[in-house]
Amino acid sequence: MFRPSLCSEKSPWKGARRWLFYVVLSLMLGVLVLYTWFSPSWRPSLFHVEYPYRYHFILDEPNRCRQESPFVVVMIPVAPQGREARDIIRRTWGRESQVLGQLISYYFLLGKSRIVSVIKLKSPDTFKKYHDILQSNFLDSYKNLTIKTMVMLEWLGSHCPNTSYAMKVDSDTFLNVRNLVDLLLEAPRHNYMTGLVARGAAVLRDPTSKWFLSPEVFPEDSYPPYALGVGYVLSLDLPNQILEASKTIQAVYIEDVYLGLCMRHLGIPLTDPPHGGSFVINTPSETTGCYFASVIVTLLQNSEQILDVWKAYETRPDC
Ligand SMILES: *[C@@H]1O[C@H](CO)[C@@H](O)[C@H](O)[C@H]1NC(C)=O
Ligand SMILES: *[C@@H]1O[C@H](CO)[C@@H](O)[C@H](O)[C@H]1NC(C)=O
Repeated sequence: MFRPSLCSEKSPWKGARRWLFYVVLSLMLGVLVLYTWFSPSWRPSLFHVEYPYRYHFILDEPNRCRQESPFVVVMIPVAPQGREARDIIRRTWGRESQVLGQLISYYFLLGKSRIVSVIKLKSPDTFKKYHDILQSNFLDSYKNLTIKTMVMLEWLGSHCPNTSYAMKVDSDTFLNVRNLVDLLLEAPRHNYMTGLVARGAAVLRDPTSKWFLSPEVFPEDSYPPYALGVGYVLSLDLPNQILEASKTIQAVYIEDVYLGLCMRHLGIPLTDPPHGGSFVINTPSETTGCYFASVIVTLLQNSEQILDVWKAYETRPDC
């Protein structure tokens, strides 16, 4: 049989080229697999939350905080369609803008609604009238609360250079602004976070639980100390530190636990409030105006209840 001699002459060189080709190909595949695994958008959806991503504000008050330089900023996460809750807060504790000689300002924090721009349809004037709406472009949902908290920290860390503290408080609460300011006038200005601090809380492994976390997402048996999300306070040097820490800590959808994880990473301990019973989640069934005069924040059944509580608080006798 005829065999071209050219072929046998060239074959060592060809073999080396083929070998090189396979090496480069497997290197490229390897890089691709690693990249896919470590890039957040491709990681298994097990983790529920998509933070960190780049979200931005579609409704914003870019200069208000800088211009006003309040002593404390109160951030109230609320559903986009929660106009009633916002109005109740504006008419009750959210009215208190000057207490003990200190300026307090309030912002409502919203994500995007599933239904197209409800806020614009239902209340075209609201955000222009009160200048208190911050709406980011992630989908507002329970499982996305960590995103809400992180965009809140981004906002605080970049918009309030001359503010000492921020408080995050839920919309179905009574907030005693006077007691809050009273506490903060005596509090450290740096590395300070307080609230109702949970210590040694067990991780819930029952998949039907509202706060279930699988061992793959969070292998430890208990959480590090964290301040319950109903209402917590932080000094404003913390937001940027927490954001920096969050780059290396896998997000969990339980927002207050996630802040606890970041605080542990930073090595900053949480501070208990000086008086027990000032951050309350189990409100006694019998309450009076004097009771509400003694707390900082109390969880209520819903935001409508704020109206009754506010009335009792304002018309209380000398306590
Ligand atoms: C969280 O928000 C992102 C961005 O808007 C969205 O893609 C995702 O579906 C949301 N997750 C949940 C559980 O609502
Ligand atoms: C910061 O705020 C204080 C009052 O809280 C004010 O006296 C001071 O002028 C402000 N500084 C700047 C740079 O805005």
